[in-house]
Amino acid sequence: MSTLHSRAAHAPAEPAQQDDVSVFAPDPGTGRQFRTALGRFATGVTVITTTGPDGPMGITANSFASLSLDPPLVLWSPARASRRFAAFTECAHMAIHVLGSDQTALAEHFARRAATAEIAGVEAGIGGMPLLPGVLTCLECALHAVHPGGDHAIVVGRVLRVRTRPGAPLVFHEGGFQGLADLPRAD
Ligand SMILES: Cc1cc2nc3c(=O)[nH]c(=O)nc-3n(C[C@H](O)[C@H](O)[C@H](O)COP(=O)(O)O)c2cc1C
Repeated sequence: MSTLHSRAAHAPAEPAQQDDVSVFAPDPGTGRQFRTALGRFATGVTVITTTGPDGPMGITANSFASLSLDPPLVLWSPARASRRFAAFTECAHMAIHVLGSDQTALAEHFARRAATAEIAGVEAGIGGMPLLPGVLTCLECALHAVHPGGDHAIVVGRVLRVRTRPGAPLVFHEGGFQGLADLPRAD
């Protein structure tokens, strides 16, 4: 099969109308369109916890990514403007929880509030980190590095212990929570 045919076979069923396509250089005037463009990247959803100066705390984050298998490293990006920034960039340990499709309430809780006190079934992990129940994967990490990243930082964690189970993931796409079943299947 030629390259041309191969491309045609993978073309979207309904190609975007030319009118729908926007092209711009990101600048202060196109912030909204830039967010929209980035929001077309579907992600999973995590809650990251640590023990801050005010006690156990968490934050909802979709900037999580795996980084290295050997050594085992993962990363995420806290916003410098966040009131939780210092706690997460100066901690010794953090726990990264990958949420299941039935855990939207947990994601919404930690988007609004930091404290873990209202969450039932929290256990203490390495270094006293709060571990949340019912998640798909929990990665207990030591803080490995913090790199600059514009108005965010890139926090790298070295994974010390993994707990995981199968299940459907919670998905974040175009500013909303979804399950994989809600998304159209690829051809
Ligand atoms: C789906 C989702 C993903 C998010 N991802 C991040 C993230 O990667 N980094 C971040 O700093 N904040 C992220 N946030 C925002 C925080 O969860 C939280 O709303 C914000 O830190 C609140 O401000 P505060 O920390 O000053 O209270 C995300 C929020 C949602 C709902």
